[in-house]
Amino acid sequence: MPKRYRDIVGDGGSNVAAQVAEHTARLRTRMAGVTHTVAVMSGKGGVGKSTITANLAAFFAMQGWRVGVVDADINGPSLGKMFGVRSQRPRVEAAGVVPAMGPQGILVISMDLFLPDDTAPVVWQGLQADTFFWRGTMEMHTLREFLSDVQWGELDLLLLDLPPGADRVATIKDLLPDLRGTVVVTIPSAVSQLVVSKSITMARDLLQTPIIGLVENMTAYICPTCEEAHPLFGPVSTEALPLDIPVLGRIPFDPRMATASDRGVPFLFDHGASPAGQALQHLGANVQTFLASVAQEE
Ligand SMILES: Nc1ncnc2c1ncn2[C@@H]1O[C@H](COP(=O)(O)OP(=O)(O)OP(=O)(O)O)[C@@H](O)[C@H]1O
Ligand SMILES: [Mg+2]
Repeated sequence: MPKRYRDIVGDGGSNVAAQVAEHTARLRTRMAGVTHTVAVMSGKGGVGKSTITANLAAFFAMQGWRVGVVDADINGPSLGKMFGVRSQRPRVEAAGVVPAMGPQGILVISMDLFLPDDTAPVVWQGLQADTFFWRGTMEMHTLREFLSDVQWGELDLLLLDLPPGADRVATIKDLLPDLRGTVVVTIPSAVSQLVVSKSITMARDLLQTPIIGLVENMTAYICPTCEEAHPLFGPVSTEALPLDIPVLGRIPFDPRMATASDRGVPFLFDHGASPAGQALQHLGANVQTFLASVAQEE
């Protein structure tokens, strides 16, 4: 006869509690070598989280920082491509998984490094009725492995590219109590900002995760002939939002951003002097100032 919930004493003999404790200890040891952990999120998809993550990583690598990136979007992974490391299969050693190495030594771990080919989707075994629940659970599990089983070594900064959806923040906070904070990405559209303002409230008030600030992405289109900036989405701005969080940067639209991602080299490495490149550097400098202030408080 199958056991019912109340028949199970403790964890039913599967030793789950000990396994979780062991995993948590491993995670702590691994993260002890990482100075700063920063998450990039948005309540909304397609606003440029991964692009911003890749270019923040590039900014800090250019400052000589040792940088790692975790593609926490395990259903739609993209950082492997953006760092040109999709052909690198992660090696599993006794000490843990060796991450892929992108331009300027940036370490990358992403689900797409584990997929056999470009068209293979991530399919979770046993995904049926309670899809949402299971997906969240599997994501959390995979993220924990990415953080604890990968040989990150000593890093100055580990960036997490979170999948769209504010609910993920709870997961991250559970896994990384020392998370320095979150960079929130939005685009200048009212719909995006409505969703984003909900995520901000969630992250800050419910989960007590520090918000480093907001990035307004794709704010303007730079005319290739006259080099003037024109609004891309109309006159909606984060200035209209009742949010008392700093705007870390406003990044204009630059078609070369997508080309750079496709080539596997973050935009900033080759176009630092362009308006978008300068805006990204300004963003990076603001994040760096925030991290320096946190480090000073310790
Ligand atoms: N400032 C920009 N200028 C031009 N293209 C951009 C800019 N920011 C992002 N993009 C492009 O917009 C698309 C979406 O960006 P990205 O994949 O980074 O978004 P995302 O928020 O990570 O999406 P998802 O929710 O699917 O993970 C990509 O093709 C990217 O190259
Ligand atoms: Mg993404």
